[in-house]
Amino acid sequence: MTFTIAIDGPAAAGKGTLSRRIADEYGFHHLDTGLTYRATAKALLDRGLPFDDEAIAADVAQNLDLAGLDRSVLSAHAIGEAASRIAVMPSVRRALVEAQRGFAAREPGTVLDGRDIGTVVCPDAPVKLYVTASPEVRAKRRYDEILAGGGAADYGTILDDIRRRDERDMGRADSPLKPADDAHLLDTSEMSIEAAFSAAKSFIDAALKR
Ligand code: DC
Repeated sequence: MTFTIAIDGPAAAGKGTLSRRIADEYGFHHLDTGLTYRATAKALLDRGLPFDDEAIAADVAQNLDLAGLDRSVLSAHAIGEAASRIAVMPSVRRALVEAQRGFAAREPGTVLDGRDIGTVVCPDAPVKLYVTASPEVRAKRRYDEILAGGGAADYGTILDDIRRRDERDMGRADSPLKPADDAHLLDTSEMSIEAAFSAAKSFIDAALKR
């Protein structure tokens, strides 16, 4: 039996960094499930295929290769927006969830991060974390990240985007973003990544001992 850690939360809450730290610490495989939605969206964009045709999007999702996912080629803002739009389609979700569950079963353990891991993809995961932060803090982090990378950004636009993305991810009918009943909540608004990591580690160590 493998050991799965489910990590959910809104965009830019720090789940990615935390997930990678945890996967490193325990020697577990890590899947950023947002990349599966992003890669599906990018494949549609690259081929000039429509975004509002669920059958076409589901077909692309079914043929996705998890081995080729790379955040650096999938990070573009337009891809994130498109991903959030196709993520409302039930048949796209079904195809990607099946692939994600296959990944979750890998030995010796896995860390999956996304929006519906604790509620839908891996409801039996022994550790579930819900990582969040206020929209303002998340927008500021994203803003600082872009400036640090030498780019130009507008804080107000980023904040609007984050609010819109939250609304879409939390408001959709199929698998909306919400904490699982048994998830540990980690609000990183005023918490460093170090503090979040050590809180997560204590939950994980306790579950591993059971
Ligand atoms: O985390 P991200 O920005 O890479 O995710 C992109 C979009 O994919 C996000 O707006 C919603 C969707 N998504 C989802 O619906 N379910 C997941 N488990 C992960 C991402």
